[in-house]
Amino acid sequence: MRRIKVAPSILSADFSNLCHELELCKRGGADIIHLDVMDGHFVPNITFGPVVIKSIRKCTDIPFDAHLMIERPDKYIKDFVKAGADIITVHREVEVDLEAVLRKARNYGVEVGLALNPDTPFDKAKDFVESIDYLLIMSVYPGFAGQRFIESVLSKIKEAREYIDGEGLSVKIGVDGGIKHTNFRKVVDAGADIIVAASAIFGGDVIANIKEFKRYTP
Ligand code: DX5
Ligand code: ZN
Repeated sequence: MRRIKVAPSILSADFSNLCHELELCKRGGADIIHLDVMDGHFVPNITFGPVVIKSIRKCTDIPFDAHLMIERPDKYIKDFVKAGADIITVHREVEVDLEAVLRKARNYGVEVGLALNPDTPFDKAKDFVESIDYLLIMSVYPGFAGQRFIESVLSKIKEAREYIDGEGLSVKIGVDGGIKHTNFRKVVDAGADIIVAASAIFGGDVIANIKEFKRYTP
């Protein structure tokens, strides 16, 4: 039996009350807190960075995943580790020495994730899959919460699942973007271990929304 993990993305949370939102996540049984860091270059939006992460680190002991949608992750790994990230996720599409970035993060003792944009084929992750803890498959174009799930990504999730299982690897598969209570079962059935959701969790009953995701066992 596969037990899925739920990673609420605070992008749709009430930023004037983040500690309370994180407390609700805890009560709902959230496994990971997903932190969408955007720099206005890699994606057309700007969110928050290490300063905010450091201050909300005090509010919860749930592991933090810093999803870095930034052009130069190589320059900021240390800052995100110091701020309290437990997982650092970088994009396959950035034009930096990815091998070095992943190694640097790992040397700081955090787990590492590799994110793939909707148009980036799974093939592009194969060279890295043995040196990561999790693969984050984007099911929207990164930049904003509340977008529609891109259906064609389902085949990429299946391909990744088959490859990872076939190679006997323990890399987890996360899926991020457009996941709702109405469509998450097919994401999980395709092979996701971790589902990331912002708008389907925040803005309503956070505890119930998380629990409803967690009730499903594939
Ligand atoms: C998109 C972010 C996602 C986003 C998900 O750039 O990486 O994590 O917050 O939001 P929803 O779940 O509303 O699609
Ligand atoms: Zn994200």
